[in-house]
Amino acid sequence: MVEQRPSWAPAELDLELPNAARIYDYLLGGAANFKQDREFADNLLAVLPEARRAAQLNRAFLRRAVRFCVESGIRQFLDIGSGIPTEGNVHEIAQEIAPETTVLYVDNEKVAVTHAQAMLGDDPRTACLHADLTDPDTVLGSAEAARLLDFDKPIAVMMLAVLHFVLDSAQPHEAVARYVAAMPSGSALVLSHGRMSDRRVQRVSEQYQRSSNPGVDRGWPDIIRFFDGTELVEPGLVWAPLWRPEFADDDEPPESSLFCAGVGIKP
Ligand SMILES: C[S@@+](CC[C@H](N)C(=O)[O-])C[C@H]1O[C@@H](n2cnc3c(N)ncnc32)[C@H](O)[C@@H]1O
Repeated sequence: MVEQRPSWAPAELDLELPNAARIYDYLLGGAANFKQDREFADNLLAVLPEARRAAQLNRAFLRRAVRFCVESGIRQFLDIGSGIPTEGNVHEIAQEIAPETTVLYVDNEKVAVTHAQAMLGDDPRTACLHADLTDPDTVLGSAEAARLLDFDKPIAVMMLAVLHFVLDSAQPHEAVARYVAAMPSGSALVLSHGRMSDRRVQRVSEQYQRSSNPGVDRGWPDIIRFFDGTELVEPGLVWAPLWRPEFADDDEPPESSLFCAGVGIKP
């Protein structure tokens, strides 16, 4: 049975095709998802029971990395593949420490953008742009970027849990290099990338082929290459829970977080 379209769902949206933003929203306990997304996520959890916890650990990395950037003096964020707003959005974390911080969110999924725009309202310090990561000219040349980002001052470019949805044929390394090139010295590249160390990766990839975001599994060297033009801060590229943890959690093997994460600073 086709689900009734809620009022917030853009008319052109294909409710039958599961989507990464809404699957992730469901894993995090959000309500901006449809039956097909939930079924997909439940199948995913059957193969990969740690996926929900992995999403939470990725959000925890986001929180620590945003704080790190603000404490390092950065007051501008460009969050690409920002997703459907969930508790602890970048502007909320950053503005708690430095209220003047500006944040431009970018996502290529309509539901994510619609929800973000509704949440942000007419806040002059934030905006959400509907654009694709692989189109840096549109993102960097947008009116929103001109309003919110001063390219003469350090900017944190965030790409969390998104690059594994960008196939090599779409040239993600070249796109990331363009963002890094546009940022002044002292800017940060904050990145997390899906990473599975066992054979289940094959089954998960096959599942995502049925969604609007077929994924790609990259090894550590290809992920580290995204940081070209920056210097990784300690502890480098590591499993997400190991990146400057706030408290020790010895119970969970770090690789069950399914994400590796790091922060590079442009010299
Ligand atoms: C798993 S969510 C991650 C959300 C958030 N960054 C986080 O880490 O919590 C991935 C997001 O990336 C978006 N996305 C996937 N491919 C994209 C692309 N090529 N350009 C922009 N956004 C993309 C999806 O729509 C989704 O909202």
